Amino acid sequence: MADIDPSGLPVHVAIIPDGNGRWAKNRSLNRIEGHVRGTANVKDTVIFAKELGIKVITIYAFSDENWSRPKEEVDALMHLLQEYLIQERPNIMKNNIRLCTLGDIERLPLFVLEELKKTMELSATNTEMILNFAVSYGSRNEILRATQTIAKLCIEKKCIPEKIDQALFSKYLYTKDLPDPDLLIRTSGEMRISNFLLWQMAYTELYVTDTLWPDFNKEEFLKAIRSYQHRERRFGLTHEQLDEF
Ligand code: FPP
Repeated sequence: MADIDPSGLPVHVAIIPDGNGRWAKNRSLNRIEGHVRGTANVKDTVIFAKELGIKVITIYAFSDENWSRPKEEVDALMHLLQEYLIQERPNIMKNNIRLCTLGDIERLPLFVLEELKKTMELSATNTEMILNFAVSYGSRNEILRATQTIAKLCIEKKCIPEKIDQALFSKYLYTKDLPDPDLLIRTSGEMRISNFLLWQMAYTELYVTDTLWPDFNKEEFLKAIRSYQHRERRFGLTHEQLDEF
């Protein structure tokens, strides 16, 4: 880790952990086995991110679209999430991590929702790192939900259309209290955003690796951070303008 600059770490890392199914298929295993290994890797990655000094990590655990997967797979993912929460709660507390969620969590089965709420409440005052699980999450729905809320406020005369700017709109997204992601990591080689944090990723640095999620280990994480640290983030400005700051 000697070549990692601690002062240049991304504050917020977002992850699309893709490739569990392919990992299993490559080994002639059931897709669910891939998700089991994928979940184990979420555990390791979260703790490693915290040790590294990352302040916010957002993991796309289950999308709006994933509800349409075969029932057996949806059920397995829900049980894995429940197990994760029960098993990892002590570790989350020991590491001073705060668990939050993005998404329509009320759609989740009660057995998951209860564990999620319990962990969120218990960890609410933890300060070392925020762990966001995007579950039952889709960015287009998030944006529509914000739009509907603001439209209602306008009808109730609590807001006027001219006052709707980027800062106000951001306040009605699930990510309202968070900085935008600095780095997005997507595993398994797909060059897509897949309805994840569309608004928030306007200036996020993208890192795609062919490595499948269950194989994405500490060294792979460090590779992503190294790549990030070699980027020049211009936010629409020129290189020369950046030099002036
Ligand atoms: C993508 O692999 C992964 C998902 C759709 C679910 C992500 C879930 C986990 C990493 C495990 C559960 C998470 C937690 C937080 C307990 P895929 O099935 O699309 O893989 P494929 O593209 O190779 O088929």
